[in-house]
Amino acid sequence: MRTQSAPWRAAAVLASVLLVGGVAACGNSDTGGGGSKDDGKITMGFSQVGAESGWRTANTTSIKESAAAAGIELKFDDAQQKQENQIKAIRNYIQQKVDVIAFSPVVESGWDTVLKEAKDAGIPVILTDRSVDSADKTLYKTFLGSDFVKEGRLAGEWLVEQKKSASGPVNIVELQGNTGAAPANDRKKGFGEAIAANPNLKIIASQPGDFTRAGGKQVMEQFLKAYPKIDVLFAHNDDMGLGALEAITAAGKTPGKDITIITVDAVKDGMQALADGKFNFIAECSPLLGPQLMDLAKKVHEGQEVPARIETEETTFTTEQAKEALPNRKY
Ligand code: AHR
Repeated sequence: MRTQSAPWRAAAVLASVLLVGGVAACGNSDTGGGGSKDDGKITMGFSQVGAESGWRTANTTSIKESAAAAGIELKFDDAQQKQENQIKAIRNYIQQKVDVIAFSPVVESGWDTVLKEAKDAGIPVILTDRSVDSADKTLYKTFLGSDFVKEGRLAGEWLVEQKKSASGPVNIVELQGNTGAAPANDRKKGFGEAIAANPNLKIIASQPGDFTRAGGKQVMEQFLKAYPKIDVLFAHNDDMGLGALEAITAAGKTPGKDITIITVDAVKDGMQALADGKFNFIAECSPLLGPQLMDLAKKVHEGQEVPARIETEETTFTTEQAKEALPNRKY
């Protein structure tokens, strides 16, 4: 549990005691005396977005396995894609006086109050996978995750190259992630900026499919009914693309041929669809953040300085590259 060794925590002790005093007074013997038990073990409270996609499942596994391997006690909460559940979980972790709080924010906005509560309690926060739009960067220690704008841009640049000799309009439909999520906002931005290089490339419809297969299928069905000529689908993740495949096939079209399909993530099922020629291109987003997260948790717990931003290394895949990579794909 928590130690008070980190110098920056000293100033926060009083606020911490005031904030959690109610819990201690209610008989939580584990936290007696208004201070924290110092058994040398780090406790991390982690609030996960949900279980919406193959990516998320792989991310959860990575975090749980890495915590066990690092000897970090993990308290894990699945927020079921709801911000209010994440705020509640973070408040619980503050009350329990965990050593470090980490979370992947379901949406970008609306975190300042609860982050301030954690800061006042002297508990360092690490953002992982997704970031927040808080102006006060001192509310968290670091952000570990992908550059989502870059993922969207790489997807768009590939399309620009593929369609460079198109003589007429190329109609694109877009399946967005959940509204307000950093990867939805950023992938849309990066993709839009890249395709602006060719005025023939037009996004004719863009709707959230919430990063789920069911959402992707349902929204794609609507697109197919509303727009007779769809040339390209850009899905913000593999799962929505996989859901869309069902809708496209049911509409009598051949995915990957009649409609070019670009997605993000590169989980196994997405890579299989790419290897099979049903998808055409994937920008990778790695969910294997657990080992780096645990390393960061140890460092911030010891009061070490860590970089404000740690970007995940990623690549892109064509069909040929997917065929090569699939046998060794870990997730
Ligand atoms: O935040 C990462 C995104 O969230 C992944 O691309 C998507 O699959 C997941 O749901």
